[in-house]
Amino acid sequence: MTIAQERTLAAKVRQDFPILHQEVNGKPLVYLDNAATSQKPLAVLNALRHYYERDNANVHRGAHTLSVRATEAYEGARDKVASFVNAASRQEIVFTRNASEAINLVAYTWGLNTLQPGDEIILSVMEHHSNIVPWQLIAQKTGAVLKHVNLTETGELDLEHFQQLISDKTKLVSVVHVSNTLGCINPVEEIIAIAHRHGAKVLIDACQSVPHMPIDVQAMDCDWLVASGHKMCAPTGIGFLYGKLDLLMAMPPFMGGGEMIAEVFLDHSTYAELPHKFEAGTPAIGEAISLGAAVDYLSNLGMDKIHAYEEELTAYLFKQLHGIPELKVYGPQPTEDGKGRAALASFTLPGLDSSDISALLDQEGVAIRSGHHCTQPLHRILGVSGTARASLYFYNSREDIDAFITALKDTIDFFGNIMD
Ligand code: ALA
Repeated sequence: MTIAQERTLAAKVRQDFPILHQEVNGKPLVYLDNAATSQKPLAVLNALRHYYERDNANVHRGAHTLSVRATEAYEGARDKVASFVNAASRQEIVFTRNASEAINLVAYTWGLNTLQPGDEIILSVMEHHSNIVPWQLIAQKTGAVLKHVNLTETGELDLEHFQQLISDKTKLVSVVHVSNTLGCINPVEEIIAIAHRHGAKVLIDACQSVPHMPIDVQAMDCDWLVASGHKMCAPTGIGFLYGKLDLLMAMPPFMGGGEMIAEVFLDHSTYAELPHKFEAGTPAIGEAISLGAAVDYLSNLGMDKIHAYEEELTAYLFKQLHGIPELKVYGPQPTEDGKGRAALASFTLPGLDSSDISALLDQEGVAIRSGHHCTQPLHRILGVSGTARASLYFYNSREDIDAFITALKDTIDFFGNIMD
């Protein structure tokens, strides 16, 4: 893709995002906090509005037209998500509130009922809290033992260390695909193949990859994969769990209630077919339908094109960051053409708190995140309490990066003058 095409892509999509066209603190908004949550295009906002204006009714139970429409749109969204990640069956997609709920679902069903004292769970030190705490809770209840894969010197997952940790005692490997802090893209296919040779199951936290690159769960051969809708142009309150059909069938229900049952007696119940067995209560219908609209929107742009465009942005971002010698950027360097890492950069400036950096950038209309990004153990290993993080999406442009870099240089000058 040439620079001209890249500009065309950014310019083309920006009109779809009303929120981007505003001033913050008197400056044009530059939104670079996409790893925390993405913005929503009109197609998604309209889908939510259309549902509540025209089709709002409960799903799966009504014998009236609105309920039929709501059910068709809700189940249609499942079809879209299944096809988006190339699941073998629509029954393999369970809607959840978010990725955290999806991981907890696996932990409290498969984990609690499968793991025995001494069984081992391998995580990595770069995991988000949502892929740490559920396994701590399950390990406490089952006597399973947690192991953690270290980082290499370049801030990537140490595959050699993983191979040292894995053994026939390993029952689960649960790792992130793309780190929300380091930006590294982990070799999940290799990890999955190694884990399966040892008879272990693998869960992939794909929150930072599903929105940004084509994902094929069958080619990957993961046992479970989780993602959150709000990071991929959909509303908050909706995410999904992919699981291999035989595994999901063998897993007991997570939460009990309406929707997830076949028959209820006073003393026992039988459960609904997949995926409804895992969707107790009235689901987030409008949000799921809007996730379907987000999947349509991303698919129409093309995930391969989004990924290629973000690589160009990554190359440009890192070229500009290299021009600020005071900065320490964490995680691997991209190649010259922006490959090998995600379009985000977590960084520190000596003597400056990350929250001061984000507060000053906010004065310039530039939105970045600061703090531990829900990866406290990783930050401890990096030896810092927090980092500032700029994270990009396909609607960002080189001009956004320029505005960010200018604001960052101004921040350095400002603090430099105070300290002088
Ligand atoms: N985990 C999200 C982030 O990285 C919220 O910001």
